[in-house]
Amino acid sequence: MALDRFAQAAAEYTRRAVVQASAAEPLFALLNIGEAEDVLDVGCGAGNLTARVRGMTRGRVAGVDPSEAMLAGARRAREELDIEYYLCAAEELPFNREFDAAFANSSMQWFADPPRAFAAIRNALRPGGRFAAQAPATSGYCPQFLRAVEEVARQGETAAAFASFKNPWFFRDSVEEYRLLLEGAGFRVIHAVIERVETPMPPDTAMDVFESGAAAGYLGASCYPAPLPDGYAEAFRRIVRESFQRQAGADGLVPLTFNRIMLLARNP
Ligand SMILES: C[S@@+](CC[C@H](N)C(=O)[O-])C[C@H]1O[C@@H](n2cnc3c(N)ncnc32)[C@H](O)[C@@H]1O
Repeated sequence: MALDRFAQAAAEYTRRAVVQASAAEPLFALLNIGEAEDVLDVGCGAGNLTARVRGMTRGRVAGVDPSEAMLAGARRAREELDIEYYLCAAEELPFNREFDAAFANSSMQWFADPPRAFAAIRNALRPGGRFAAQAPATSGYCPQFLRAVEEVARQGETAAAFASFKNPWFFRDSVEEYRLLLEGAGFRVIHAVIERVETPMPPDTAMDVFESGAAAGYLGASCYPAPLPDGYAEAFRRIVRESFQRQAGADGLVPLTFNRIMLLARNP
């Protein structure tokens, strides 16, 4: 696979992915995995949740991800577990009616071609199979990240290069838009809600959260038309860190808030 946006994030992903890990709880509650179900983790990353699913079912468990570095971490950490891993994007899933349940935790926003990805996920499911997803949503997906990035856009060291940044994420502003996309792929939508989840945390932890996902976009070479200038990534990170420090309240915590879409759909 040519593009590995998570090559840099992979090494420390598991330690930093606190928001992804906690957001998985309501996702698992929605999906309600049965003890013999075959389950597919779409955009499994370092395999943290794939390993948890291994403990929920005695059926087949598979994880797919287009990042070689993330998958290598997953394979290394879970060698002893009976989990299949595949290097592939959601759009390229090679499965045909093989799973009872599929889920995408904090990975759907990275789908490059959502209609194709949802069609491929539906095709991977048996009739009656379920797909659950949770991901940051809306153009204001995390106001504290956006505030920090506005400072990157303003400051002299970063403004010129940042002006050419091309957003790699797929965000929709309403539940209806997500619903239509899933229905367009043939799913019946059972649950679609955009929730606002606030998780106050110290600036250093907020920086870890930023590094575990957003940095792969904001500092990804493929999101800029020209090579990044020397020192850009360092300056970007410093400005974001300083912004988080300024955004902390009297309690020392940044009120990090994510707008998240929670979806459950069925393959009729
Ligand atoms: C923030 S990580 C989430 C990983 C894992 N699901 C978790 O909850 O810890 C996002 C993952 O989405 C993957 N990804 C990027 N583009 C994708 C695509 N088109 N299809 C599936 N996964 C993709 C990335 O490689 C990365 O591993």
